[in-house]
Amino acid sequence: MQGNIVSNTNIAKDVFRMEIGIHLDAQPGQFVQIQVPGYYLRRPISICELKDDSFVIIYKVLGSGTDVLSKMKAGEMLDVVGPLGTGFPIEDKDPVLIGGGVGVPPLYETAKRYKKADRKVTVVLGFNTKADAFYLDEFKELGANVHVATMDGSLGTCGTVIDAINESNIRPNFVLACGPTPMLRAVNQAYTGYISLEARMACGIGACMGCVVPAAAGGNLRVCKDGPVFKTGEVIV
Ligand SMILES: Cc1cc2nc3c(=O)[nH]c(=O)nc-3n(C[C@H](O)[C@H](O)[C@H](O)COP(=O)(O)OP(=O)(O)OC[C@H]3O[C@@H](n4cnc5c(N)ncnc54)[C@H](O)[C@@H]3O)c2cc1C
Ligand code: FES
Repeated sequence: MQGNIVSNTNIAKDVFRMEIGIHLDAQPGQFVQIQVPGYYLRRPISICELKDDSFVIIYKVLGSGTDVLSKMKAGEMLDVVGPLGTGFPIEDKDPVLIGGGVGVPPLYETAKRYKKADRKVTVVLGFNTKADAFYLDEFKELGANVHVATMDGSLGTCGTVIDAINESNIRPNFVLACGPTPMLRAVNQAYTGYISLEARMACGIGACMGCVVPAAAGGNLRVCKDGPVFKTGEVIV
């Protein structure tokens, strides 16, 4: 489907927030495949926030596709497929949301849904440096209890999200996490809940088997169709 770009703003180092004028009936944690003009393969990007007539994505400029995306202007049109994949469930529990880098965006709509369900929401966000950090105020405005860690100690706890959890004596009974693989590996081993994985994708709809990860029970699971959200322990990270 086609949607107009409502806004496209630089919010941290190489990180952009884009609002796209399409109503999506989606679950937090699901993603869209965006057709970047001039590129055949679509780029998978998580849904950060769902609004009545639009949705928000937050993306980091890593290669040429996201670079082109970052230069697009309000009013230009984008072709989007989605929502795709599995989302984070909304359970009757107080979640600890753990996000690293551009794994943080899908946790925002997730936090909104848990707050709407009157749950206590704790958010632990990890970035490399203060210049990479984003959305701390937005999570606070939702009423979440926000903790932050940076690898160089320029903001919050010096170290990883796990260091921040230990330093703040958070006891996560139920986690929802998205971020870099080493972070998810640690979360997958230490806690119970759900993790959202990334993989290089081609079709994005379960047909090409290009995004498989090994399942703990044997065989493979597709990140685009069986995930990206998996139960902790379900996949070998
Ligand atoms: C389900 C899912 C959700 C995602 N959500 C977000 C998001 O919310 N925000 C965000 O910034 N990024 C997200 N990504 C990663 C994003 O898709 C890639 O960063 C993007 O496709 C890179 O495109 P490019 O053309 O700029 O880079 P390319 O030129 O294709 O590659 C440049 C660099 O990006 C890496 N890369 C490319 N594709 C992926 C990929 N699918 N996953 C991880 N690394 C990749 C390459 O290894 C390379 O280092 C998500 C990926 C998946 C699978
Ligand atoms: S990207 Fe084709 S099966 Fe997942």
